[in-house]
Amino acid sequence: MRHGVQLALAILACATPTAILAQNTDAPPTWAYPMNPPGFKPPPDNGALRHVPGSTLSLTLSQVNDKFFTSDWHPDDHPSLPDVVAHGRKPNVLACGFCHRADGPGGPEAADLMGLPEDYILQQISDFKAGARKGAVPDRVPEKLMLSVAKAITADDAKAAATYFSSIKPRPIIRVVETDTAPKVHVTSWFLTALPGSEREPIGQRIIEVPDDPAQYISRDSRSHFTAYVPVGSIEQGKELADSEDTALQCGSCHGADLKGNESIPGIAGRSPTYLFRQLYDFKYGARSGPGAEIMKPIAEKLSVKDMVSLAAYASSLAP
Ligand code: HEC
Ligand code: HEC
Repeated sequence: MRHGVQLALAILACATPTAILAQNTDAPPTWAYPMNPPGFKPPPDNGALRHVPGSTLSLTLSQVNDKFFTSDWHPDDHPSLPDVVAHGRKPNVLACGFCHRADGPGGPEAADLMGLPEDYILQQISDFKAGARKGAVPDRVPEKLMLSVAKAITADDAKAAATYFSSIKPRPIIRVVETDTAPKVHVTSWFLTALPGSEREPIGQRIIEVPDDPAQYISRDSRSHFTAYVPVGSIEQGKELADSEDTALQCGSCHGADLKGNESIPGIAGRSPTYLFRQLYDFKYGARSGPGAEIMKPIAEKLSVKDMVSLAAYASSLAP
């Protein structure tokens, strides 16, 4: 299991310059950076009122897809929303809750902001703004929109959003399941959804993360849950890597013993494994290069795609 890392270390020891390692030999995996199929059109609003479990609210599809509106199905779940989270600021600051949901759980195509350190949130916004963080597939619309939000946001709005999301207590929303076969999926609005029926296919070195109730997720309900299918053995392999005696790899030395975060270093426990994988990949290949990212880059450079899948599966399987 540690072969990949040991080999990488050996290469690192003899190769000059070490940047050779950072050459992108693995294309960004399509399961981690799913693109909508050409000509994809989201279903039109047929006027029907949408509902979600545990809420008396009803909203139309046009309302839930309004980029300056946060579908706040459960207002009692969280403190009152800062205006920028609820409505954004026209024309370029979309409502944070449109993608990250009312209290921040987000989903596999975006990011979970629940309980992230305030300073860390502000730093990421300024990294996006500076172009230091862009994602390894810059054509993906969710990342593109995040960048344009960060470019347009005022310092006061960024601070209000950061204070709010960092105050939310993280909660478990993902079930990580080891399996040899995963449901066959297709891409709908930048995330994977299981195809109707029970067809499965070999998982290979992939993470297949799908909403348990796609209609609820499309309604942008912050209480949505997910199942992440991961390769058999990956959780244990991830744990071994995370605790590796190679001290440069010991995730807990910076992210906290339980990987729940430490001061301004973000927690990675219980978060979307698809998101975590993308970040490791982005660090490795330079798509995330802010000041904090410079600390992660040499760590990520030692990891193969398989290592990243295992670490993401392991971190995601822990309590947030
Ligand atoms: C159009 C969707 C969208 C909107 C609106 C949006 N974001 Fe994001 N956000 C994203 C995506 C996509 C990512 C990065 C995903 C990735 O790198 O894989 C992200 C990442 C982030 C991160 C980094 C999280 C981390 O753990 O590093 C922060 C912080 C963030 N957003 C804050 C905000 C704030 C604050 C707002 C509102 C002002 C906002 N976002 C609005 C889509 C959005
Ligand atoms: C020497 C300290 C250090 C170690 C060791 C470390 N990290 Fe990090 N990690 C950081 C810092 C700092 C950041 C924030 C990066 C930034 O600001 O862009 C980070 C960010 C991350 C992120 C992105 C989180 C987010 O919200 O986007 C992931 C994923 C991650 N680390 C995984 C790991 C894993 C897995 C390991 C072990 C193999 C590890 N880290 C070891 C310091 C460390």
